[in-house]
Amino acid sequence: MKKMTVLTGITTSGTPHLGNYVGAIRPAIEASRDENVNSYYFLADFHSLIKCHDPARIHQSRLEVAATWLALGLDTDKSTFYCQSDIPEIPELTWILTCMTAKGLMNRAHAYKAAVQANEEEKSVDPDKGITMGLYSYPILMAADILMFNANIVPVGRDQIQHLEMTRDIAQRFNHHFGEHFALPEARVDESTAVLTGLDGRKMSKSYNNYIPLFLPEKALRKQIMKIVTNSQAPEEPKETEGCALFDMYRAFATPDQVAGMLHKCAQGIGWGHVKQELFEVINAQIGDAREKYNDLIQNPVYIESVLNQGAEKARAHSRPFLDKIRQAVGIAPLG
Ligand code: TRP
Repeated sequence: MKKMTVLTGITTSGTPHLGNYVGAIRPAIEASRDENVNSYYFLADFHSLIKCHDPARIHQSRLEVAATWLALGLDTDKSTFYCQSDIPEIPELTWILTCMTAKGLMNRAHAYKAAVQANEEEKSVDPDKGITMGLYSYPILMAADILMFNANIVPVGRDQIQHLEMTRDIAQRFNHHFGEHFALPEARVDESTAVLTGLDGRKMSKSYNNYIPLFLPEKALRKQIMKIVTNSQAPEEPKETEGCALFDMYRAFATPDQVAGMLHKCAQGIGWGHVKQELFEVINAQIGDAREKYNDLIQNPVYIESVLNQGAEKARAHSRPFLDKIRQAVGIAPLG
């Protein structure tokens, strides 16, 4: 049986937080242990340039994001772990695909439309004000990321489903014209993965600046957890756990037995402060060892760089010959 290829990209414009961990990193690392899949994970730094024009931030993210995945135990022998910008075939494929992508398709992209709508709401004379070509055509870059490795399954958040549909459209058009080169990928949105609420009650996200960094020192982590907003029920009152961000976070880290125990305590009446303390303990138990590894790794950028280089070599063993075929398919080839 041919192994399925699973691939996903991680934008590198910030410090990984608890929401990234439960929503993307933890499930991806678990999935990468499956012997029946070929997995590709990469730092999508060309994507980061769309929104982040701070070189220090981009550079630091390369270190922090790679160190995070390695500290959490990603097996880089089983999976291919690399940085997008280390694979020059990706931007090259992006251009070839750009020439096969209808402009109308890009006009319909949610991220672009949202930016236009924001301009219209501000009554700006130019609906495209502040919109770069990077933002406009980034679904094509994402298509190249995916099609380069003939990924079958792409684990993503809901907001990325449209990009997968576009990827399939672009691939089909190319295949129709130049022959069957690309596999058609599917998005996988795991409804069971937890989406954490941030400190202000909205989804935990870098864009809202409401997040708790994953590898804060123990004391600082506890302090942040104590800041999670709860309702004002008195300690002895039975606690409402339905729709409670704090409880949901507990559920995302605790074992089913611990969750059952906590439900019981909530029904009996427990102070929110105690729930927070227990939440801190389960999180700390789960990530404590990884935090130590992370702190060591972050001191050793040369090592991280060597891991990324090996990953890039592994990825390029595929992308170089594959891109050669694509070049030939479109008629770009040496003479004689
Ligand atoms: N755009 C994705 C996000 O914001 C990240 C990403 C870039 C990606 N390239 C990808 C995800 C390819 C899956 C496959 O989450």
